[in-house]
Amino acid sequence: MVPRYLIDPSQKVKVHKPCDCTVIGSGIAGLSTAIRLSGRHRVKVITKSSLRESTTWYAQGGIAAAIKKPDLWKNHYEDTIIAGQGLCDPKAVEILVKNAPRMIEDLIEQGINFDISEGEISLTTEGGHRHPRILHAGGDATGEEIEKKLVKYARNLDGIQFLPNYFAMDLLTLDNRCLGVTGLNPHTNMLEIHPSFFTVLASGGIGQLYELSTNPPISTGDGVAMAYRAGAAVMDIEFIQFHPTVFKTKDGKLFLISEALRGEGAFLKDKHGKRFMIDAHPQAELAPRDIVVKEMVKVMKATDSNFVYIDATHLSPSMLKVRFPNIYYKLLENGLNLTKDLIKVSFAAHYMNGGVKTDYEGLTSIEDLYSCGEVSATGAHGANRLASNSLIEGLVYGWNIYRQIDKKLMRKRSGGKLQKEIGSLLGPVGQQEHHDKQIDTEDIIHRLKKTMSLKAGISRDGESLNEAAGLVKRYIGSPAFYNTSDKRKAELANMLVTAMLIIKAASLRKESRGTHQRIDFPDKDDKRWKKHILLQKDKIGYIEVKDGRHTKS
Ligand code: SIN
Repeated sequence: MVPRYLIDPSQKVKVHKPCDCTVIGSGIAGLSTAIRLSGRHRVKVITKSSLRESTTWYAQGGIAAAIKKPDLWKNHYEDTIIAGQGLCDPKAVEILVKNAPRMIEDLIEQGINFDISEGEISLTTEGGHRHPRILHAGGDATGEEIEKKLVKYARNLDGIQFLPNYFAMDLLTLDNRCLGVTGLNPHTNMLEIHPSFFTVLASGGIGQLYELSTNPPISTGDGVAMAYRAGAAVMDIEFIQFHPTVFKTKDGKLFLISEALRGEGAFLKDKHGKRFMIDAHPQAELAPRDIVVKEMVKVMKATDSNFVYIDATHLSPSMLKVRFPNIYYKLLENGLNLTKDLIKVSFAAHYMNGGVKTDYEGLTSIEDLYSCGEVSATGAHGANRLASNSLIEGLVYGWNIYRQIDKKLMRKRSGGKLQKEIGSLLGPVGQQEHHDKQIDTEDIIHRLKKTMSLKAGISRDGESLNEAAGLVKRYIGSPAFYNTSDKRKAELANMLVTAMLIIKAASLRKESRGTHQRIDFPDKDDKRWKKHILLQKDKIGYIEVKDGRHTKS
């Protein structure tokens, strides 16, 4: 049983003045939306860590857009649909790929420097792309360049108030309408209420649910959990994408080896030096990511090893140093030379394909609550996101959200009414903080990550999912995680809710498709499962896919 709030808002809390829009998250999706809105509206950006710390920062490879002939949006559309394994919503994909080039123009206007070759923007390929259409910056530092410049741009604007290192706790709702956000003030450690006419959830992913992840420590599924608690529908959450080429550093940290390295011609080899992707897929190392991971699982089992090699030794050393400076120097620090050595890699949790369900305008199933970026499920990714489609999705759907909110804000400005509504949610002091010395937060997080990795990770089956559900059920309703001002406990509460949703959807989907692989149902079953699973409080729903159309049932 999941309580409605992390902290009961009926406690004595500070209520801030209403603002036009509160954005939760400061990655590419949240920041770009805030920047656009700030031209005419008062925007607040709440972010859990520093402004820069987001998954966007760690995106190495690039951002996909069909910006140059002979590539056309139609090609990008087809590649996205193929990668999504029957579950992409064609209209959502069309919106994504058609609008991608204009988003790139906006980024350039905002000061982002993409890499240039012979006077033109340099384009590369990655897994699943049949045309070079990945723009990159700083070689392999695309996310860093975009995030750095967006933060700089946003800081110079008057219309945005930033609340960094601020933990958004819950969404406040009345009659299925979002009235704003509650959050934990890092200076006072007190709960505060931020009323707003519109709220945009752009809080990123869930990688920290797994032992090995490319995501930063902040990716604890907060957005999915708070939306679910508020009653929003969550879609496609069983599809968790693992990245195939992640390197473990000497000090045990994980470091992404961008798919763009394979885009430039690097090979994947088993421990005996055999290129195993050649026989597995016509696009070999550039097959969609889920297919590469599936093959790696087989190869590792067959060769009794826990790694494969990425081999770039046949590529030009000067190209490697210029195109992949971060990777090159990180490997050097670890005693390896990308131009001469084979590099041991394995997979790690990377991206949540599903999330909080939105319509084509980014609106969730809760009125006035929008969502974009990794936390959202627009339908554009299906069962497996195409490489480098995430940054561009954040921009395109953030732009759609901006246009909607901008239009609606022109009419909706009675702060008094909003304050009154908020007031109706505040009552006498609610439950007191619950201290339970038996609860060891870090130990539970450790066990949860381990369980999710072993039982609900790349491969799952009914039994393993049941075991994972057992651990989650033991703690999910524990009062120790609610009405607490301990941020780490609140994160754990969010991780438990998100884990429960992944396990539930993965248990329901009795087939293997894309990034959801069931050992007990190894085949794709279009007849029964070409549909989306929707999870909402006390409700399970499905969206049927027929003749490419997605219809709620
Ligand atoms: C990478 O550079 O390999 C990551 C790109 C992505 O996840 O889209």
